Amino acid sequence: AEPGWTETTDVVVVGSGIAGLTAALHLREQGLHVTVVTKVNIDDGSTRWAQGGIAAVLDPLDSPQAHAYDTEIAGVGLCDPAAVKALVEEGPARVRELIRRGAEFDRNPDGSLMLTREGGHRADRIVHAGGDATGAEVQRALHAAVRRDPWIRLVEHALVLDLLRAADGRACGITLHVLGEGSEDGVGAVLARAVVLATGGMGQIFSSTTNPSVSTGDGVALALRAGAEVTDVEFVQFHPTSFVTSGLNSVQRPLISEALRGEGAHLVDENGERFMVGQHELAELAPRDVVAKGIYRVLRATGADHVYLDARHLGKEFLEHRFPTIMASTRGAGVDPATELIPVAPAAHYASGGVRTDLHGRTTIPGLYACGEVACTGVHGANRLASNSLLEGLVFAKRIADDIGRDLPAQAEPVRMNMTPAWVADPAIRPEVQRAMTRGAGVLRSADSLDTAGKELSRLAESRSTPNTAAWEATNLLTVSAALVASARSRRETRGCHWREDYPTAADEWRGHLLNSIAADGGM
Ligand code: SIN
Repeated sequence: AEPGWTETTDVVVVGSGIAGLTAALHLREQGLHVTVVTKVNIDDGSTRWAQGGIAAVLDPLDSPQAHAYDTEIAGVGLCDPAAVKALVEEGPARVRELIRRGAEFDRNPDGSLMLTREGGHRADRIVHAGGDATGAEVQRALHAAVRRDPWIRLVEHALVLDLLRAADGRACGITLHVLGEGSEDGVGAVLARAVVLATGGMGQIFSSTTNPSVSTGDGVALALRAGAEVTDVEFVQFHPTSFVTSGLNSVQRPLISEALRGEGAHLVDENGERFMVGQHELAELAPRDVVAKGIYRVLRATGADHVYLDARHLGKEFLEHRFPTIMASTRGAGVDPATELIPVAPAAHYASGGVRTDLHGRTTIPGLYACGEVACTGVHGANRLASNSLLEGLVFAKRIADDIGRDLPAQAEPVRMNMTPAWVADPAIRPEVQRAMTRGAGVLRSADSLDTAGKELSRLAESRSTPNTAAWEATNLLTVSAALVASARSRRETRGCHWREDYPTAADEWRGHLLNSIAADGGM
């Protein structure tokens, strides 16, 4: 079927979090017209949920080398040193730019930026806003800046489907499904001279995640369908401390920022014992994968569904001032961190892998760029360092805009505009995909658990629906889940956030990247 509507622009940016909006603003500095398309509303992505902050070297006693060292240690041998170098060296300038665009970060009485620490960092280098509402402030500022520019067109309620290609293979646009529509009227296309994917993560493949409901791996699924290289998808990071509360009836769990541990809160088991002390020199502030594993071991040993975070000694006044978001969500559920222990457990948080890019955000398909969580630039390796993700979005958005500005061919004709998908899954399978992935491919994995998950996914892939947004999301969840299970099965070692019960140590022969792919039947 032909798309119901088509529009043409210089660059189409897919996604409206920190990566997409920053890319759009930098592309405007290149004098280009930009269309930003986003699945639901502009502010609905993961960015606004970010709490801890943005890591950048802003203290004269800190250094980019020290930030690179911490990043590479956390990444357990899989970081690309050139990408990390770009990240840490360009990060401070990008944060200052964000401030010039209007973002207001917390400051000391002398006006200097207030810096905190999170897991895996050996220096205070994390800027934050509104205490623990950094992402909300960043999203507010970028949203306002984008709205001020009449040459950035925003299309909301539009789910990206597939990439359009010219005869020479170059990306020349995208097709879209307009939300809520099941008919051809709901299908559109944006033709563009370059395409920037900034669609965020895939946390919704699991039953509990800190990600919002829109994080369904749409960009990675598109890239897999288009045949772009996708790598490292097995490295899904589990945040150690999501809030566990019985009243909660959603897949998205409230985050209890690592910054709370950075300010001195302790993890304790049901007997009040600090179980991370002695496991790692940084104890509760070890890299995230180490802490998530430490908690998971306690949960396995006790059969409980949570451990506790003890922040009582930080005091009511400090907690209310520094962590207003966390205090509101916990108190809203009847837990007061000033006087009570906070029940916490790991939840899926961040995809360290994704669509492979070079140092300029270029994927293996000419004209297709990837930025932010959807991308695998090489900065995160096997486990992302805390607060490096907002930073990555900022740094690589600028690199992408610079690259596009240097060389942008004329608009090419798409070879075909085939909107008919091979198949779309039934939206009702979404919770079943999440259960299968949580059981078989969650924090701890084995050949057996992954086999079981793979079989379950194949069964679920037999479901069918007519195309609508929920069905496309279910299809994308299945596609990225299958890719993850396949690479997690292949990687017979434990490294970073990929933890194999049957291969409990890291092995040098696995110090490399696995390519993810899609089966010939279009998904499984
Ligand atoms: C947090 O605030 O703990 C999350 C920070 C991050 O994911 O980098």
